[in-house]
Amino acid sequence: MKNTLKTLYKKDKLTMITAYDALFAKIFDNIADIILVGDSLNMSFLGESDTLNATVDQMIYHTRAVCNGAKKAYIVCDMPFGSYVTPEKGLENAVRIYKETKADAVKLEGGAEKAEHVKLLTDNAIAVVGHIGLMPQFSRSEGGYIVKGKDEDSRKRLLEDAKAIEEAGAVMLVIEGVKEDVAREITESVNIPTIGIGAGRYTTGQVLVWSDMLGFFEEFKPKFVRRYLNGAELVRDAVKKYAEDVKNGKFPGEEEIY
Ligand code: KIV
Ligand code: NA
Repeated sequence: MKNTLKTLYKKDKLTMITAYDALFAKIFDNIADIILVGDSLNMSFLGESDTLNATVDQMIYHTRAVCNGAKKAYIVCDMPFGSYVTPEKGLENAVRIYKETKADAVKLEGGAEKAEHVKLLTDNAIAVVGHIGLMPQFSRSEGGYIVKGKDEDSRKRLLEDAKAIEEAGAVMLVIEGVKEDVAREITESVNIPTIGIGAGRYTTGQVLVWSDMLGFFEEFKPKFVRRYLNGAELVRDAVKKYAEDVKNGKFPGEEEIY
């Protein structure tokens, strides 16, 4: 049975993982409660240096793939940078995502200043997941990936942002790169599930980027990532073995010939 907000709201620990294609989405389905088609795909899948030049077309393409692979998970599609510069533009693009994919919700980055956007989408029957704290779409304007909630001003701002997004109708809230005590306070002050990444132990759920947690993205490992697999190493070894077998005339073998 397909995960819905109703079934997810009953759980007290939610697991979210990203996926960008049908193959991995099918493997993660039935294990993770929620699959996020994150605009992080622009970095790990496309190899760009940040998420800023991801497009709506790109997000739709990958979300269709994920929806084809995952039948149970609740699926969230990121709205890319520039696709919600006004509430109206956000609605137009979110409607496209809803019409051209089977995503259950869209996610957008921002706090109180995005409340209007969240409300307009919500009023038009689109479920919205918020994203506050360290917001990768702000990496260029802020000059890097900066952990939030380290001082009183930042703490207050985050709490206000979370409240504003909840009141505007968001169904869930991703909290990224925030001090644990502040993420905990946010989680205790809102009535929607919070999903943390680099936000400590007390959010309702956790999210990790699949290529980070499975060890396929080797360039760097942020502190909050736990590597559950040495994916790149395993794949490299397997492909080496294949190349050796071809060179040595061991592949194809007797059983692999018509
Ligand atoms: O794009 C992404 O993968 C995300 C997660 C890090 C939350 O937004
Ligand atoms: Na994202």
